[in-house]
Parts: sequence; C-alpha cells; structure tokens
Amino acid sequence: MATLPIIQIRKGYFKTKITSLRLKSTGVTSFGDELQSIIDDLIETLEKSKIAVGLSAPQVGILLRISLINLDLERKKPTIVLINPKIISLSGKKDKKKESCLSVPGYRGEVERRYKLEIEAKDRFSKSQKIKTEGFLARVIQHEIDHLDGILYIDRMKDPNKLEPVDFF
Ligand code: CO
Repeated sequence: MATLPIIQIRKGYFKTKITSLRLKSTGVTSFGDELQSIIDDLIETLEKSKIAVGLSAPQVGILLRISLINLDLERKKPTIVLINPKIISLSGKKDKKKESCLSVPGYRGEVERRYKLEIEAKDRFSKSQKIKTEGFLARVIQHEIDHLDGILYIDRMKDPNKLEPVDFF
C-alpha cells in the first residue's frame, strides 16, 4: 500500500484544460490484481487525509472511473468504493453549500447541486450496488462523479470570483 501524491491546480491555472483533472476518465473493465492495488492505494491516500471526504482516481493521475467516499474523518467507518458510477436520478430542491477539493488547495466556494440522488455503481469486486441518498452524501457523490468527467467544483460556481481562501489544507 502507498499514499499517492494528489494532482493540484492552483489559482491562475483554473482554466487550464490539459491536466488529468480536466480529462474524462475511462470505465473500468478489468477487476484483477492491478485494480485491487490501485484501490488499496486510493483508500490509504483518502484515509490518511485529515480533511478529505472523497477522492477520485484522476486526482492521482489515473484516468479510470473510480471514486471513493468516506465521510467519517476519524476513519472508523469503511470507505465506500464506487466503480463506474452512473447517476440514475437527481431530484429534490436545489441546495447551495460550500465545497472544497484536495486538488484545489487553499480555497472553498459555493456550489448549487440537487439535494437527492440515486446512483448505480460496481464495488471493487464488480458487484452492482444502488445507492439512494440525500444531503451531504449526495453532494459529495456528485462532486466525485464530476471528477470522472474532468469537472471541478470551481467550474460549477455561479461566480468563480467568490472563491474564499481557507487555511485547513
Ligand atoms: Co474534489
């Protein structure tokens, strides 16, 4: 297992498109040993972070459709692994909350997203799972699936000038 370096985009470079953070990732088709070690390393990278609630493979330069979620910063709950996640439905009210991202260090900004979602994804052993959720978890899943399509939260801000500096990175 290894902790992987996170690819970061800094202010002044937010419109740069040629970085793995801006590319569309490819679906996972092989669930063998190599995928298992990538997932182990992603889990370690996420769980060692004191602030991250999600991590997606393109953030470490691997352009595969893999997203991880762990809302428990004490890491007492297992990390959820989503392979090839697909949004089945987005519903509920439009909800505005501040988001931040390990790949955009030093900032946070308000993003409007739908409050409820339903997704379908595979787990690390290729078993299909459906997740229906709302609120913060629904937001984090949307943020992570965006990473698989090369979209960062700063792209979804109504006013990108309203990015706020924060010191928790
Ligand atoms: Co992010």
